[in-house]
Amino acid sequence: MSDQQVDNSKRRFLLLATSGAGAVAVAGVATPFIASFFPSERAKAAGAPVEADISKLEPGQKIDVEYRGKPVWVVKRTPAMLESLPKLDGKLADPKSDGSDQPEYAKNEHRSLKPEIWVATGVCTHLGCSPTFRPDLAPADLGADWLGGFFCPCHGSKYDLAGRVYSSMPAPLNLPIPAYKFLSDTRLLIGEDK
Ligand code: FES
Repeated sequence: MSDQQVDNSKRRFLLLATSGAGAVAVAGVATPFIASFFPSERAKAAGAPVEADISKLEPGQKIDVEYRGKPVWVVKRTPAMLESLPKLDGKLADPKSDGSDQPEYAKNEHRSLKPEIWVATGVCTHLGCSPTFRPDLAPADLGADWLGGFFCPCHGSKYDLAGRVYSSMPAPLNLPIPAYKFLSDTRLLIGEDK
């Protein structure tokens, strides 16, 4: 493989890894480099756990990591984002995540091991589209009371910043949370929690 090919493949990955982060980036500020690690094709086919380096993940940003052929999101939530979660309980279909799919350690208000770092499978529980990260507040298309979350462009389901689905949406359940654990403060292992 030539140097040029290597560079192009890095560039494509960077575009994927930073998807959704633009909405919170201040115009003119360069998007920081964010790296994640992908397993070999053979390991991926076998469903091997995937490591993710979150050392460059800034508050308010999301990165995508591929695990078992699906996007897994890692979002670093800001204090304001975390404060928005309890305010939304009355508008959600399953605010306590009683009927939703997550490990026991993610069955809490923030649906995560550490409040600020949120990991979820980015697949809508309606028909499987991948929702869009919408951390922007009160945008014209989502309404004045929008506090940030995820919007599924296929049939309009809305989720909050913990992946909890709003009431009366086509999607019946909160976004699933995969098994994961921290290898260190800046490295995650997705797909394994033992
Ligand atoms: S697939 Fe997301 S709302 Fe239908």
